[in-house]
Amino acid sequence: MSVAKPLPHDAAKLHVTGAARYVDDIPVPAGTLSLAFGQAEIARGRITGMDLDAVRNAPGVVAVLTADDLPFANDVSPSVHDEPLLAAGEVFYLGQPVFCVVARSHLLARKAARLGRLTYEDLPAILSIDDALAADSRFEEGPRIYIKGDVDAALAGAEHVIEGTLELGGQEHFYLEGQAALALPQEGGDMVVHSSTQHPTEIQHKVAEALGMPMNAVRVEVRRMGGGFGGKESQGNALAVACAVAARLTGQPCKMRYDRDDDMMITGKRHDFRIDYRAGFDGDGRLAGVDFTQFCRCGWAQDLSLPVADRAMLHADNAYLLPAARITSHRLKTHTQSATAYRGFGGPQGMVGIERVMDHVAHALGRDPLDIRQVNFYADQGEGSAESQTTPYHMEVEDFVLNEMLAELKETSDYRKRRAAAATWNAANPVLKKGIALTPVKFGISFTLTHLNQAGALVHVYQDGSVHMNHGGTEMGQGLFQKVAQVAAARFGVDAGKVKITATDTGKVPNTSATAASSGSDLNGMAVQAACDEIRERMARFLADQHQAQVSDVRFQDGKVLVAGAEYSFAEAAAACYVGRVSLSATGFYKTPKVQWDRIKGEGRPFFYFAYGAAVTEVVLDTLTGENQILRCDILHDAGASLNPALDIGQIEGGFVQGAGWLTTEELVWDDKGRLRTHAPSTYKIPACSDRPVVFNVALYDGENREDTIYRSKAVGEPPFMLGISAFMALSDAVAACGDVYPSLDAPATPERLLAAINRVRP
Ligand code: MTE
Ligand code: MOS
Repeated sequence: MSVAKPLPHDAAKLHVTGAARYVDDIPVPAGTLSLAFGQAEIARGRITGMDLDAVRNAPGVVAVLTADDLPFANDVSPSVHDEPLLAAGEVFYLGQPVFCVVARSHLLARKAARLGRLTYEDLPAILSIDDALAADSRFEEGPRIYIKGDVDAALAGAEHVIEGTLELGGQEHFYLEGQAALALPQEGGDMVVHSSTQHPTEIQHKVAEALGMPMNAVRVEVRRMGGGFGGKESQGNALAVACAVAARLTGQPCKMRYDRDDDMMITGKRHDFRIDYRAGFDGDGRLAGVDFTQFCRCGWAQDLSLPVADRAMLHADNAYLLPAARITSHRLKTHTQSATAYRGFGGPQGMVGIERVMDHVAHALGRDPLDIRQVNFYADQGEGSAESQTTPYHMEVEDFVLNEMLAELKETSDYRKRRAAAATWNAANPVLKKGIALTPVKFGISFTLTHLNQAGALVHVYQDGSVHMNHGGTEMGQGLFQKVAQVAAARFGVDAGKVKITATDTGKVPNTSATAASSGSDLNGMAVQAACDEIRERMARFLADQHQAQVSDVRFQDGKVLVAGAEYSFAEAAAACYVGRVSLSATGFYKTPKVQWDRIKGEGRPFFYFAYGAAVTEVVLDTLTGENQILRCDILHDAGASLNPALDIGQIEGGFVQGAGWLTTEELVWDDKGRLRTHAPSTYKIPACSDRPVVFNVALYDGENREDTIYRSKAVGEPPFMLGISAFMALSDAVAACGDVYPSLDAPATPERLLAAINRVRP
């Protein structure tokens, strides 16, 4: 069987040899034009003048578009139509696209875009969380609140109470391939768009709106992205729409890609947060109640901020049973880039909140933080186990496995011994301090907007027995196509190499959801399985007829079809079916069962199941410079019955490193004018190869999904990101070794912040 095999990514060789084709690599027809945006130079104001003569007269410029030149909808928002493609009279952040240059080359377009002379009437810009609170600038009328039990009574009656505040920075996606789109005008006004997007249907939808056409006039194709990480769920809309409009107006193919600086100045990032907490607990560290207030900086347009902020609330418990909880979420509107989806989709921010509480409680009691975590864990739930345990949003946790996982990880990582060794080291070494932390992850799988939990597939078997597979998911490096191809191969009993992986195409599978929420393989794997099984059933029926056998006696295995003692190669079987006039093409469809969710009340079952993991990370910190290194990381992660262990381990390693980067080195700095000062790799530090743990042990938990998912696997795209929290907590542990005060470390824990924290705790 092809599932569960650690086969390499289908495009691995193409990736490493540079032969993989991305949007900007697609050979284009002669006369293809390139686009670049002229950007706002202030964070907020009214545009009083736009002198674009120099732009129009610049070499190679064919056209310059402003909001007034757009034929139909001036909107690229994925949610509430509040995001003009080009500023219409008013600008809302520094970097916002104001006009669009269409020129003969990428470079000429970019050069010309710099020549615009814009004048503004300045308006006061709301930049920070505090600014937004003072101005009551938000996306929903008041805060959203989830409540379980009576938290005020729990805190009043608790033996101990701690409180604190935690700041969490945003994060740039830093996909290696920047945003890109190519629009090819067709006859009759139709448009074909190639886009680096996680959401082809959204691109189709927004392009159709902008062209005043029905969706059937627009076809969007995506072979792959050079990384998306959530940054290509909605942020590609602007480029695709601009290209389509320019292609319509000029009659020429149009393409656009953001250079790294433009990409960082224009597109949204992870939401930064401030989280205030109060927690009551007993002498064993058992929580009685927690009160969280989450402040979420959303930027200028709504985009996906509401579901992101919801997911932060939904992960405020992480792996812990909170007897009483109140989670208050403020969705603040600021004049900065519109914060967007980023791996974990708010979950990581919510989770760091409760992990901070665990760490703080442990410090207050002078206990090993692991003991405090474990005493608060949900209980492992066996088959049919009846003990009720609910989250702060009143969902029953039925599949908890972290107690068992921790028992294993504590052993394999030698946690207790190494924690004692670190303490001994710290007592003997005044300058270099070691820290170690074990943090768990429980991450909810499903889109919280219930209707998005659906997927479609289209599968053909050709008369030579080769298989052509298409589904609504997109490939961004995560290995989705390979995994789903393994599913298709397993259904037909053929080698995965027999299955042709094809580009995602809105003309083949319609009305798809973004490849997001880690649900790509859960949804599309099931849809592909359904399509394959439909074809297999038809083939089996035909062949059984031919041999006066039962349909159930027909076997598809090892590249063969066996029926009533006869043996066909899969190709012979396909050829026979073709001659027998059997349809060898089918669609498949899947919708996730059991989920239903009332996001206003904060009640229901937003998730089909949870994915689990835990990491032990050890760091060493130079207390004179703040420099630090991850010495070792041990991970045990739950991918259910893995569809492909090699790809899953890749996701876990990459997720951990990206999560650790978010909380340590990756710092976004805006100045007091709202200008993002860190808009290139020179000033924004993602982890390099040398930053990965010196010793990095990743293992898959041996268990299958309790829920009926594709081959009992679990989603793996986002959950491991949050294992990176252990690196942050390990740094906090190292700082704590410098004195007696709790470090209250903020993220990202850059050397500056680490030194400030060391100064706070030093006696
Ligand atoms: N892995 C790679 N290599 N590149 C990516 O862009 N995106 C992540 C994750 N892993 C990403 C990745 C995010 S944000 C999500 S939601 C999932 O992959 C999406 O893919 P899946 O649903 O197939 O797991
Ligand atoms: Mo991932 S943030 O759901 O694209």
